[in-house]
Amino acid sequence: MSRRILVTSALPYANGHIHIGHLVEYLQTDIWVRFQKLRGNDCRYLCADDTHGTAIMIRAQQEGRSETELIAEMQAAHEKDFADFDIKFDNFGSTHSEENRVLCGEIWQAIRQSGLVKEKDVEQLFDPEAGTFLADRFVRGTCPKCGAKDQPGDNCSSCGHAYSPAELIEPKSTLSGATPEVRSAKHLFIELEQLHSFLNTWTQCGEHLQPEIANYLKGHFLGDPLRDWDISRPAPYFGFEIPDSPGNYWYVWFDAPIGYMASTKQWCNQSGESFNDWWKSADTEIHHFIGKDITYFHTLFWPGMLKTAGFSLPTKVHIHGFLTVDGEKMSKSKGTFVNARTYLKHLDASYLRYFYASKLTAKVDDLDLSIDEFVAKVNTDLIGKVVNLASRTAKFVSEVGLSKKYPDDGGLFKYAAAQGDEIAEAYEACDFNRAMRLIMALADRANPFVEDHKPWTLHKDARKAKQLQEVCTVALNLFRQLAIYLAPVLPRLAEQTGELLGDPITDWQQAKTPLVGTPVARFKHMMKRVDEKDVHNMIEESKEASQTESTSSPATEHAYQDSGDALAAEPLAAECSFDDFMKVDLRVARVISAEQVPEARKLLKLRLSLGGGAVKQVFAGIKAAYEPEELEGRLVVCVANLAPRQMKFGVSEGMVVASGPGGTEVFVLSPDEGAVPGQRVH
Ligand code: MSP
Ligand code: ZN
Repeated sequence: MSRRILVTSALPYANGHIHIGHLVEYLQTDIWVRFQKLRGNDCRYLCADDTHGTAIMIRAQQEGRSETELIAEMQAAHEKDFADFDIKFDNFGSTHSEENRVLCGEIWQAIRQSGLVKEKDVEQLFDPEAGTFLADRFVRGTCPKCGAKDQPGDNCSSCGHAYSPAELIEPKSTLSGATPEVRSAKHLFIELEQLHSFLNTWTQCGEHLQPEIANYLKGHFLGDPLRDWDISRPAPYFGFEIPDSPGNYWYVWFDAPIGYMASTKQWCNQSGESFNDWWKSADTEIHHFIGKDITYFHTLFWPGMLKTAGFSLPTKVHIHGFLTVDGEKMSKSKGTFVNARTYLKHLDASYLRYFYASKLTAKVDDLDLSIDEFVAKVNTDLIGKVVNLASRTAKFVSEVGLSKKYPDDGGLFKYAAAQGDEIAEAYEACDFNRAMRLIMALADRANPFVEDHKPWTLHKDARKAKQLQEVCTVALNLFRQLAIYLAPVLPRLAEQTGELLGDPITDWQQAKTPLVGTPVARFKHMMKRVDEKDVHNMIEESKEASQTESTSSPATEHAYQDSGDALAAEPLAAECSFDDFMKVDLRVARVISAEQVPEARKLLKLRLSLGGGAVKQVFAGIKAAYEPEELEGRLVVCVANLAPRQMKFGVSEGMVVASGPGGTEVFVLSPDEGAVPGQRVH
């Protein structure tokens, strides 16, 4: 029986472009939805832009235009990016829509009536320079629970603790770098604790969440009373004003998930479907796909809201990990922070669709895009094993078509048809990695058939025309089976296959019956090999883009467009006198040796020459950013009169001057050409 399935991806923020990290999620969801549709289920994919909040307000101000203009432009860009990656929504809405405002009002009413809302005065951080209360993400500081530094204002990326930004230790506004002031204002809260036992049952029953997520919630949140959730923000705020609390707005995370419903509503209005069939019916499954960073909102707040307002609860929340590139966090300076648009300029969307599919499992683990693996996988699997089956055979039968009767293939077709159930199970369970392995194993059985029967040799002998047709009939049918199984991942290939064989791919069951006696169209090129050069050009372009990127308005363009992020992250220190400065003796030095300190996670051991035999040993925390060989011989600037410090690995007699937040982002300063070791820097 056909299932009714509503599927969502997290709503992308309207304050930035889609990048390859986001695409993990939208591709994962799109593949799952396409799979469900191919199986004949009534499955709908709904999404929207997430438009509200301080970030948008500030950005619009900076760009000298209205929020609505900004979000409209961003939405158009998002929709185009998604379409060009073959991510196909049944509706893509906006949280800044009338449908959303109305639904927020209804849900709010229900929550009020359940006695879950209370008012409290809140000390919130206010940026005196920017003239606004600060959204959580615009405050960074030290986690009050575990002491991790430079954490965002809502929850700690190190220990997962959720807090209010005013609780941060040594907070700083990321808008202006100012130390925010505490100001008091009235806020509205939802008393989540009243839903504690419901959330306990719902999250722990083993049906809706991955086991590692259920355990995480149990260990981090459900063991203690749940904290009240602050869901209002005082003006100025870009969002919906709360009808019964003028001057206050719903916090963006209140109206954002309701955007899933608002998008459904829009789609219902267009398609004549009934909204309640999708959000209030026990016959409908609801599946949310999200990244691990927004677990809290989707597994505690959101079910709590739905339950209170009498809507269906999610059947499953599917949570994926984060993308790394070559084992590291995506990085602007390394060019691995690749926007969807930049990718498309250089590479085919199908490559990334297949690559992510081959990496995605039902687990929450992060996934890595290793560039070498990307190139190898696409070329070996897609081109070498799949497309080749068609490109080496179709041309020989474009005049005669397929044999009238399916020839003896030694059981290959039958075997692959029988594998359909197992492949489907893997897709259903979001174990796309397994599905891809099963499919490639079928390709590995099909290819030897072609190699053994050598159609390119048969073709040269007119007496073997029938045999040639039979071999090609088998090869093309095995190819078509693969194209059907891969259709959720590679919709374009499925379409091309449909055109080639005159039979559109619309149903999973098509893999069970071979095509016989039908015409074969002229073979058109299907997919080209990845050229490593294109990948490198894409990375280079992303590097350049990050260097010219600006957060300020194009209208107030300067010759230099350096972002203010670094300064905001670390505002200027208190003023010092010239004499204070002169106490620090900075010298040009040459790195005469650099070596690893195997036991130390961050350190390299450097020997610095100040000329004339004066040498200092320095332990520098730059291991993640530099190879020792890169440093040897070069000039650096060192703090030469720093008191020696005994470290675990030896005495450090100075410091090398460098900028950057740390880790792989460390930039050692060099003097210009002409400087010599020993010279003082001032
Ligand atoms: N607007 C919120 C979601 C609201 S849902 C009611 C948001 N937006 S986002 O644009 O920051 O992220 C959208 C989705 O992309 C999130 O699920 C997030 O986890 C995912 N990803 C963003 N960067 C990612 C990676 N680098 N890797 C994998 N997924 C990533 O959060
Ligand atoms: Zn912490």
